[in-house]
Amino acid sequence: MRAIVYDRYGPPEVLEVRELPSPVPAAGEVLVRVRAAALNPKDSLIRKGKFRAVTRGRFPRLLGYDVAGVVGAVGERVTRFRVGDDVFGMKQAWAGGTIAEEVCMLGDELALKPPKLSFEDAAALPLAGLTALQALRDEGRLKPGQKVLINGGSGGVGVFAIQIARALGAHVTTTSSARNLELCRSLGAHETWDYAAKNGLEPGAGWDVFFDVFGNRRFSVVRAALSPTGTYVSTVPAVNTAVLHVLTRFSARRARLVVVNSNGRDLEQLAQWAHAGTLAAVLDRVVPFTEVGSGQAHVETKRARGKVVIAVASS
Ligand SMILES: NC(=O)c1ccc[n+]([C@@H]2O[C@H](COP(=O)([O-])OP(=O)(O)OC[C@H]3O[C@@H](n4cnc5c(N)ncnc54)[C@H](OP(=O)(O)O)[C@@H]3O)[C@@H](O)[C@H]2O)c1
Repeated sequence: MRAIVYDRYGPPEVLEVRELPSPVPAAGEVLVRVRAAALNPKDSLIRKGKFRAVTRGRFPRLLGYDVAGVVGAVGERVTRFRVGDDVFGMKQAWAGGTIAEEVCMLGDELALKPPKLSFEDAAALPLAGLTALQALRDEGRLKPGQKVLINGGSGGVGVFAIQIARALGAHVTTTSSARNLELCRSLGAHETWDYAAKNGLEPGAGWDVFFDVFGNRRFSVVRAALSPTGTYVSTVPAVNTAVLHVLTRFSARRARLVVVNSNGRDLEQLAQWAHAGTLAAVLDRVVPFTEVGSGQAHVETKRARGKVVIAVASS
């Protein structure tokens, strides 16, 4: 089977297509014949060598965490899936490998794909959708009627955060550049602000949850704009945020760091919303398997609208 691999950290040009042996599912694993995958900033950061402490320079490295495809084989003790099922999901941790013709995943990293969702749309959902869900529901504890500000509503995570915040019953305000205001409105945001004009940091703004998706607002700056029991949630695993995550645990105003976790229960929640039409993917573009590097270069501009998806196989 063919996979995208690289043998050294560097620019998108280090990526190459390589023939590798087909993986064999171990107990608890499912072999997915990949139809579509999606890119995330994480793929680019790892490729650039930003997470050497955990990736430890082990090469060749494979790419990709999001997947949609068809079950090709199941390992022992897998009961939730059968050969031929259409599935989607997210590979946990650092190894990656979904931008390949075949990948083995734990059963709990997958859910059945809603039939009316295309493989491309399903591949866009997992990592970004799970991040938005876990940031708002678990870290932010967002409740119906509460006020949430989503800083950066038009990117991979942001487009799902707007829709999930609405599904949770919140009043949603979001920031983006001027060109994306209409997109954010169309996804259900009640108020949409151009971040160049208005940023939501005014003291007393009263946010119950301030979700810093883009990651350029520190808790120290946001704190006064929170409600008396408001929560700041960041996506950026900076030392400062990780320390505050612990230090403010029992404070009235809390700072939280979301760390996305792949699990079947939350994937099924995303699938249910997608099936009901409550949650839709926004695809910036679909890139052929052999042009992953150009897709990554686009993600690295930090201006993608929704997700960049990789078409891996057509059937
Ligand atoms: N901790 C975790 O588990 C976790 C999980 C997923 C992602 N993340 C991190 O979360 C961040 C967002 O991920 P993503 O996939 O959504 O990224 P993305 O798709 O690359 O985000 C692109 C979006 O960022 C917006 N943007 C650019 N400059 C901005 C600014 N100054 N203020 C607000 N928005 C701005 C752009 O909107 P405009 O073009 O309108 O400016 C664009 O739509 C990344 O740093 C990623 O690494 C962390």
